[in-house]
Amino acid sequence: MSASSSRANANEASLLRVFTIPESEDSTLSRIEKQMSEDLNGFLEQQIVAVQKPLGEIEQDFADSKIPEEPMWVSDYSDKILDTLIAHSVHTSSPKFIGHMTSALPYFLLPLAKMMVGLNQNLVKVETSKAFTPMERQVVGMLHNLIYQRDADFYHEWMHSVNGAVGAFCSGGTVANMTALWVARNCRFKADGDFLGIDQEGMYAALKYYGYDGVAVITSKRGHYSLSKTADLLGLGRRSFVAVEVDEKNRIQIDALEATCRDLKAKNICILALVGVAGTTETGNIDPLEDMAQVAQKYGAHFHVDAAWGGATLLSSKHRSLLKGIEQADSVTIDAHKQLYVPIGAGLVLFKNPQISGAIEHHAKYILREGSKDIGIHTLEGSRPGMAMLVHSCLNIIGRQGYELLIDKSLANARYFAELINSDDDFELISEPELCLLTYRYVPGHVRRFLEGATKEVQQHINGLLNVLTRTIQKTQREQGKSFVSRTMLNPIKYHAEDIIVFRVVLANPLTTPEILQAVLTEQKAIARKQLAELAPIEQIVASAT
Ligand SMILES: Cc1ncc(COP(=O)(O)O)c(C=O)c1O
Repeated sequence: MSASSSRANANEASLLRVFTIPESEDSTLSRIEKQMSEDLNGFLEQQIVAVQKPLGEIEQDFADSKIPEEPMWVSDYSDKILDTLIAHSVHTSSPKFIGHMTSALPYFLLPLAKMMVGLNQNLVKVETSKAFTPMERQVVGMLHNLIYQRDADFYHEWMHSVNGAVGAFCSGGTVANMTALWVARNCRFKADGDFLGIDQEGMYAALKYYGYDGVAVITSKRGHYSLSKTADLLGLGRRSFVAVEVDEKNRIQIDALEATCRDLKAKNICILALVGVAGTTETGNIDPLEDMAQVAQKYGAHFHVDAAWGGATLLSSKHRSLLKGIEQADSVTIDAHKQLYVPIGAGLVLFKNPQISGAIEHHAKYILREGSKDIGIHTLEGSRPGMAMLVHSCLNIIGRQGYELLIDKSLANARYFAELINSDDDFELISEPELCLLTYRYVPGHVRRFLEGATKEVQQHINGLLNVLTRTIQKTQREQGKSFVSRTMLNPIKYHAEDIIVFRVVLANPLTTPEILQAVLTEQKAIARKQLAELAPIEQIVASAT
């Protein structure tokens, strides 16, 4: 598309045209739409993960803080964003983009997403969403069923009920976790006697009435940061968020959890909730959920499972048992925009007992009236789009069996990659893939063997140098733009819980092949071998000691 010679004017006729459906196939808007979808296809087909242009330079294209005074032709605008925005966005769908949880989407979602945007339903109330309301309730019901497997009578009674919700659809895992702990807080400090409930009277009055000196939410050190955000938002304070030590597989240590609970109880702190993680963000590990459920029961705490990442594993008959105990949770978070392959903006919280949703029930005069089926009665968010339609389409079009293949393939890919790392003398696997995430780093074999026999001080010194090297390799690989792995910091027990920087890989894209994985390691080795300034001091320590 070339820039228009004429200028757009702000007048009522052209504004009305913007809101009108294009009449013919060859109208300007139809042509632009066709061109845009070709451009999108072109972008998605590219195998690189990002075009190299520093963020600072990109910021120059977005430096003006004034709202444009005059309108612009859609065609001119499209040309502009193609160059400045689209060309410099990240190819999250590339099979070589294996660093984050954001991955490829099924292509059939694109026309459906257009329909969803075009319909612009607002799920907060039936008056602006009609059929979308029962559709969303069904999606929430299906995910509830995936976890809790209640009988048909249960879903008949609750899925479309005005008396409670089996869960809530929301924009993502953060809001799902917030909703779960909001429910937990309001249930724990419910109205009683002359106390009107924490929702009415706030935290200070609640603690006074119930006779506690504080509140705690407990999770492992690998718990997602959205949980401490939640503690802040719910008025508990971030310091009431207690992170318990993990074992060598990044799973909460049950003994340490018990000790923490005993300690809090002795201090007269209310243990509001235990949060188990089913698929930690950094390593993909799963807490011992059955044991956690028992501890939660013993201390009368709400048991929430953050399965934002790992929840979809329940769709695989082969791997479902990895999450055993999840069905004992009072609430569960699952992100559809992770392993259900739905675009960003789709998370869910599910309640074992739908009646607990009553703890956050909210009514207003003009909508959300008592007895109405408005979903907004039981959600944290207000206006929400019809994203559930995209989950609905995936669940129907891919089906349980299709998801099973996808999940099984991701896990097989991760295990293959772990074998590749283990069989290469230049790499060290730091965390084994329990789900499709793993972490590792570049350490030449002789350095690794030396590290194993070294004193703690020498290990710390070398690990510090290796951290610098790992960071350089990761950044260089990202800048080269051919493939992408992310990095994080872990505290492996093997290295006395020192800070160890590692590459982090998420293998959710079904188009990622063994060849791609081999090429990622080859590229990393080539980068590493050029970092002489960083490798030399490591080699010197090893040489002088042997
Ligand atoms: C375990 C876990 N919980 C919660 C979240 C937050 O999800 P979202 O980014 O959708 O808000 C994430 C995101 O990566 C996660 O991995």
